[in-house]
Amino acid sequence: MRFINLGSRQDASHYVAIEMFKEIHYNKCTLLGLATGGTMKDVYLKLVELLQVNHTDISCLETFNLDEYFMLDKNDPNSYMTYMKQHLFDKIGMKESQFHLPDNDEIDVEEDNEAYDQAIREKGPLHIQLLGIGENGHIGFNEPGTPFNSKTRLVDLTETTIAANSRYFEDEEEVPTKAISMGIDTILSSERIILLALGEKKAEIMAKLYSMKAPDELIPASSLLTHKNVEIVMDNATARLIK
Ligand code: F6R
Repeated sequence: MRFINLGSRQDASHYVAIEMFKEIHYNKCTLLGLATGGTMKDVYLKLVELLQVNHTDISCLETFNLDEYFMLDKNDPNSYMTYMKQHLFDKIGMKESQFHLPDNDEIDVEEDNEAYDQAIREKGPLHIQLLGIGENGHIGFNEPGTPFNSKTRLVDLTETTIAANSRYFEDEEEVPTKAISMGIDTILSSERIILLALGEKKAEIMAKLYSMKAPDELIPASSLLTHKNVEIVMDNATARLIK
């Protein structure tokens, strides 16, 4: 696991965007694992710009998102589908057949989750899996205590995650308490993983992760210690407690 502090928020975000851009530009049929959240906004902004100025052919690009809130309408302003369309899919003209988010309705939940993993297995491995991190160390919505062999499934969000997500909702009552998340095992099956962590709030978890010598299921991100190709990209604010 390689840690890199790139200084500013912008430089860290741009580095991640450039790595993704190069993969898409040079490998026509790129498979990407994508994340949402505040951290990723500048990544997608830069990625869109790079794809456009280079007239990159994205006709064979295919993406799988990490997660989606359970039973939230896909057109809801807070759904991850809406986020992805606004920040990436619509901006670069991706077709519906090119992007995948976990099916989040209440029908055939287990079958749909198995099918999601199977599609990733059949088409994969994902060339790059993009990750953010929760203040409690979650990756995707794999909360502390998640077994490292977990697959895509319905999960209960923890209080800290619900509180962190509530900043995007007008009414706290509306914040979803469940999500469908890619499992840790699914994430670890990717060829390359880039985790981006920005801002003060991620400093404590990042210092903890940096000091860990062995994986521990209480810190889901520590599962990345078992993967051969992981980069943890930070800004100064996140890296400030790393000695
Ligand atoms: C989102 C996801 C989450 C976020 C994490 C950080 O698809 O999988 O793990 O990456 O909660 O969120 P932000 O970036 O909003 O701090």
